[in-house]
Amino acid sequence: MTVGRSFWMPARGSTGAEGVDRSFYFVFWVSVCFFALIVGLMVFFVVRYRRREGAAPQASPSQNLPLELTWAGIPVILVFVMFYMGMKGMVDLATPPAGAYEIKVLAKRWSWLFEYPNGHVDQDLHVPLDVPVQLLMRSEDVIHSFYVPTFRVKQDVVPGRYTKTWFRATKEGEHLLLCAEYCGTGHSDMLAHVIVHPAGEYRQWLEDAANFVSRMSPADAGRRLYRIQGCAQCHSVDGKSGIGPTFRNVYGYETVMAGGARVLADENYLRESMLNPNAKVVAGFDAIMPTAQGRMSEEQILAVIEYIKTLSDRGTPSAPETTSGPTTTQVSDERP
Ligand code: CUA
Repeated sequence: MTVGRSFWMPARGSTGAEGVDRSFYFVFWVSVCFFALIVGLMVFFVVRYRRREGAAPQASPSQNLPLELTWAGIPVILVFVMFYMGMKGMVDLATPPAGAYEIKVLAKRWSWLFEYPNGHVDQDLHVPLDVPVQLLMRSEDVIHSFYVPTFRVKQDVVPGRYTKTWFRATKEGEHLLLCAEYCGTGHSDMLAHVIVHPAGEYRQWLEDAANFVSRMSPADAGRRLYRIQGCAQCHSVDGKSGIGPTFRNVYGYETVMAGGARVLADENYLRESMLNPNAKVVAGFDAIMPTAQGRMSEEQILAVIEYIKTLSDRGTPSAPETTSGPTTTQVSDERP
């Protein structure tokens, strides 16, 4: 199961890995041989032709055509072989087979989001075994680089354009996925996993995953939506102000709007703020939030509200870690 693992490389996990390894080891061993040959000859000549007592310097031999052709010809052939292997490998990596299964990738500081054909969005990349998978990638901010060492796949993700890559996984289980382009302080947090499912189980996984809101408790589902729907980029959960107001202690409290009105943040206010963000804008913030209209279902909106409630001293006490059943909703005190 760990084919191809060496001091230099992790085990191979995709069909493309073998070609990459072949090129790598070819260049590597050619370099090792020439290093040994050149350093060995150098040491030998230094000793053999060192200056000796009473020996006068000798005239250098003029020309030796066969020798010169040999030392020029062999490296030229080797370099052309390397070029051919590299070029062929690069073209193979850049050309997804027709009909490959497409997953969209969004890279942003500092996480990955993977969007599946049925609309499901996940923080890990789930793929079926032994099926060509094509990734259509974009970046929201700076240059990132999609890198799966076991697949030997690395492709920059560049803002303002789409880049593509593809692979065909040959090994079930988890593979590490990294960002290989320094993209700021959180660069090393851009870790995710590729999870390779047996072909027969993939469809079921995708269906279940897409329905996570109905399978998880509303607050857990809300926490997950908070991350994958992009809320986390503007709204903190620890009380710090970001591009938007924090979610901490919002629910159940009065908030001052631009214009001076005071609004009690209850379920209706939170729902309205997601569907029609410009209706009530919190003082001190710009009206730049995109609407959730068409992007989130009522069920999902309710889940986010439940999650926001768990972040408030006046809401649901705390979110249970991972339960499948519904949370016990607390009846809160009478409010003015
Ligand atoms: Cu993204 Cu480094």
